[in-house]
Formats: sequence, C-alpha cells, structure tokens
Amino acid sequence: MKRLAILVSGRGSNFEAIAKNIRAGALDAEISLVVSNNPDAKALETAADMGIRSLSLPSKGMDSDVYAARVVEALAPLDISLVCLAGFMRRVGKPLLDAYPMRILNIHPSLLPAFPGLHVQQQALDYGAKFSGCTVHFVDAGMDTGPIVKQAVVPVLDSDTAETLAARILIEEHRIYTAAIRLVLAGRYRIEGRRVVET
Ligand code: GRF
Repeated sequence: MKRLAILVSGRGSNFEAIAKNIRAGALDAEISLVVSNNPDAKALETAADMGIRSLSLPSKGMDSDVYAARVVEALAPLDISLVCLAGFMRRVGKPLLDAYPMRILNIHPSLLPAFPGLHVQQQALDYGAKFSGCTVHFVDAGMDTGPIVKQAVVPVLDSDTAETLAARILIEEHRIYTAAIRLVLAGRYRIEGRRVVET
C-alpha cells in the first residue's frame, strides 16, 4: 500500500476529498499522516473526525529550512511514497525537497503559469481572464513552478466574485488532485524537460 503524507494550513477540503476518494475505493493509497503548520486548522478536526493520524507542527517564526527539517523528521519513520501539499501556505524548505525529490505535489487554484502566488482568483478577475482553473504540479524550489501533472479549466463568468470563482475552481481541484495522485503513484509518466508525459 502506498502511503501519503498531506500538508495543510487551513480548511482542508482537498485533504478531505482525497481521504473520501480513498474510502470510496477510487484511490489505492492510505493517508499515514496529516501535518498542519497551523494549530487552528480545520483540517486537523477533519482528520480527527475521520480517524486519520495528524500532527500539529506550528511553523510560526521558524525559518523554512528549519521547519522542513522538522517535517522530514516526522515523516521519516512512515515510509511515505508521496507528499501532498493541500492548502499548505508555507514555502517548502530544501530539506523536504531533498528528502522527497519529485515526490511532492501541490494544488494551485489557477492555470499555471498564470497567476502564481496568493489571492489568485482575484488576480484572474482583475486581469479579465475569461478562463481560469487549477493545476496539480510537482514542487520544486520555485514558487508554483514545478512540472504540471494535471490541469482543469473553468470559465470566469461576468457575474463572478473571487468567492464564486473559487468555489467553481474548488470542485475541479477535488477531482484532479486524486487523479494526479493516482497517476504519480502508479508511475505511469515520464518527465521530458518540464513536460509530464503519461505513459
Ligand atoms: C485551495 O484553493 C488550493 O488550491 C490552494 O489553497 C486552497 C486550499 O483549500 N492551494 P483547502 O484547504 O484544501 O480547502
């Protein structure tokens, strides 16, 4: 059985969607640990409700590399195949990148490389984009820059606010994150330059 670690900071709806897909038999994996850098994250309550082991590991005031080393320590005994960032709001420090090369995924609520960073639904609206969406990508040392595993497109409506657009994108996030994890765990891809090519 392939083991996942999920890193969260807040609401945890992507984590919950992955956990439910596993329960429903749509993803052959187990979540060994949920790590939250925010002790007040709702995701920690969800993990408790679902009987999934979790760890509150606050990052406040801590250097990214020092924090990453703590995360690596926590994951080391668990034989983790893949680390999934799901609304994890910290930069991933080098020790974690080195410990899990091309084995860390992130979900981002825009069609990268458009609108990296924060408040991206508002960025898409302000820019006047007619379509946005979400991206699952491998995590590298950059900000939202790693090779793209899956994307989904959603229309931006004239009536949209950042909230309504975010809600439409989130539905697709919940779908493609599980699909991306399934693909990566099965190893059914090769990487050519920046391209993740399904095999
Ligand atoms: C999602 O929109 C995700 O793409 C972004 O942060 C949000 C997290 O939502 N990185 P949740 O915590 O998974 O509900």
